[in-house]
Amino acid sequence: MSDKWNFEDINWSLFDSTKVNSEILRVIKAGSVVEHNGSDYGLYLKSVFAKDEIFLKEIDHWSQDEIKHGKVLSAWIKLADPTYDFDERFKAYVEGFPIPVNSQESIRGSCAAELLTRCMVEIGTSSVYSALKDASDEPLLKEICAKIAADEYRHYKLFYKHFKRHQAKEKLTLYKRFKVAVDRLFENEDDELAFAYYTANAETAPYNRKYYTQLYGKAIYSYYRKDHVSRSMAMFCKAIGVNPQGWVQKFLSFLAFRILSSKAEAYARKVA
Ligand SMILES: [Fe+2]
Ligand SMILES: [Fe+2]
Repeated sequence: MSDKWNFEDINWSLFDSTKVNSEILRVIKAGSVVEHNGSDYGLYLKSVFAKDEIFLKEIDHWSQDEIKHGKVLSAWIKLADPTYDFDERFKAYVEGFPIPVNSQESIRGSCAAELLTRCMVEIGTSSVYSALKDASDEPLLKEICAKIAADEYRHYKLFYKHFKRHQAKEKLTLYKRFKVAVDRLFENEDDELAFAYYTANAETAPYNRKYYTQLYGKAIYSYYRKDHVSRSMAMFCKAIGVNPQGWVQKFLSFLAFRILSSKAEAYARKVA
């Protein structure tokens, strides 16, 4: 994978404690445990794609990138909050949110559907780190988010490349591609992120999925600008096989931005 960067390439001296935003810090804590779980996602993908030797070679690089993201984010968190115990928080997260690492078949129904789903995940991550980069005033976090967002975009391209290979055999219809993609986007409000937010922030109240979905959503949705959404929808259209610069992309961008903005406002009222 080109444009690779390492933990040592980060300019850690940029850190400015006076510019840390406490809400962004809480979001980054959630991101750190989800990213580090890339090792288990890698095992799951290797099991599902055991017969695909071309893709198998690239899964490890992808998974190592995700683990690196978790490591870099947890190092930034340590600067912002020296009391943060990453190992303890990560343990709590994986115990409550296990991944079926020995699955012989994709939980998405087929290899093409699995890869299209992974494209959606990478659209989500590349947009969220772009939004966090622009929302944060803390210079080190800006640099870290820019580097991670670039990785996530490369991951999207990786999964898209292999999706096209499997799609040539499976020939999923446009309706099916659209359904698989949208289903995964709506899953962003499943337990994964809400539970990560809950465990990474060492919340002591009993876990309430709806409440923590709203608490996480209130923060994250408010960081999205129109350009982040427009770019995501171009990637979405390309993945499902629709013109990424056409009217569908423009309509979806308008719709998605309206949904994100109204959710941010509604959640802010509910968890205020
Ligand atoms: Fe990542
Ligand atoms: Fe990624």
